[in-house]
Amino acid sequence: KEYNVAILGATGAVGMRMIDQLANSTVPVKNIKLLASKRSAGKKMKFKGQEVTVEEATPESFDGVDLVLASAGGAASKKFLPEAVKRGAVCVDNTSAFRMDPEVPLVVPEVNVDQLKNHKGIIANPNCSTIQMVVALEPVFKKYGLKQIVVSTYQAASGAGQSALNEFYQQAQDYLDGKEMKSTILPTGSDKKHYPLAFNLLPQIDVFEDYGYTHEEWKMIHETKKIMLNDMDAKDIKVTATCVRVPVPISHGESVYFEVADKSATAEDIKAAIRDADGVTLQDDPDHQVYPQPLTAEGHRETFVGRIRPDLENEGAFHLWVVADNLLKGAAWNTVENAERLVEQDLVHVPEDHYEAK
Ligand code: A2P
Repeated sequence: KEYNVAILGATGAVGMRMIDQLANSTVPVKNIKLLASKRSAGKKMKFKGQEVTVEEATPESFDGVDLVLASAGGAASKKFLPEAVKRGAVCVDNTSAFRMDPEVPLVVPEVNVDQLKNHKGIIANPNCSTIQMVVALEPVFKKYGLKQIVVSTYQAASGAGQSALNEFYQQAQDYLDGKEMKSTILPTGSDKKHYPLAFNLLPQIDVFEDYGYTHEEWKMIHETKKIMLNDMDAKDIKVTATCVRVPVPISHGESVYFEVADKSATAEDIKAAIRDADGVTLQDDPDHQVYPQPLTAEGHRETFVGRIRPDLENEGAFHLWVVADNLLKGAAWNTVENAERLVEQDLVHVPEDHYEAK
């Protein structure tokens, strides 16, 4: 069986990587459609060495499509994905448009692949910073239980899209050339003020919401609970986050403090659980200065974990450092990995009671 696949947002930072990840996946592709905005229509791109012309996305673009991989922003997903589902296409969406919808499974294959079978046409891919944290913590949760997670993120510029990444590089160049740095996007295109990221740190990712937390921080709280407990408001695991944009182009880092339920667990036990888990590589050897870094994680599909150590004040509490390529495991690869699992489980079918636009 082969599938007609469409990539929505094919020209973006994530979309370009979706093309590459799909080409190197187990998904049998019959025909590929590359969709973007009107601006990119006519642009030539390549899939498995063959030239493909980018088309402007319209509802009719999805006629005859079996599988859609989307990363063109929340507004485009809201507009197009219900249209695609109506036309019989199963959609894996990398935007935040449907993540919290109770009808939409939010899936990280290493953690909750069993949720895929509940889809009604749309499967959501979590936020990049959530994905790498749950991949690292799921093996700990399964073996020792989790009571609390406190995470601080060090997030790369590319998480804000290709234009933000370009703005960051230009700022760095201007700074070194002794010119004034210009900011029009970061910290977020959707807020009023903009600041340089080069040679700086921005403790704002997305807009501010309730209690002084940013939208990104709320995403980490709610998505972690929905993925690990299947309930965004669950109280079983307490989660809190501080999200910071750092002057790194690709790969997010996270410092995670967590408390386990089984107080007999040692740091060696935690290391062993993480070492044996799918999709994770342990890089934890302080004696030889081995630990995960953005530069070494870039371009890889795995999540890298190191600096695992006990908290010395609280019993059953630990710290770790986790790094993953935000554009691959945090986005394009997790999307394609979900597509691979859908194909393997023969779930590339839209059910009759499919998702309808609300
Ligand atoms: P385009 O390149 O034509 O603007 P990024 O996250 O790197 O900024 O990329 C966003 C992606 O989403 C790009 O491929 C962009 O296409 C695409 N996109 C943005 N808005 C729309 C829209 N309304 N319809 C279709 N594609 C869109």
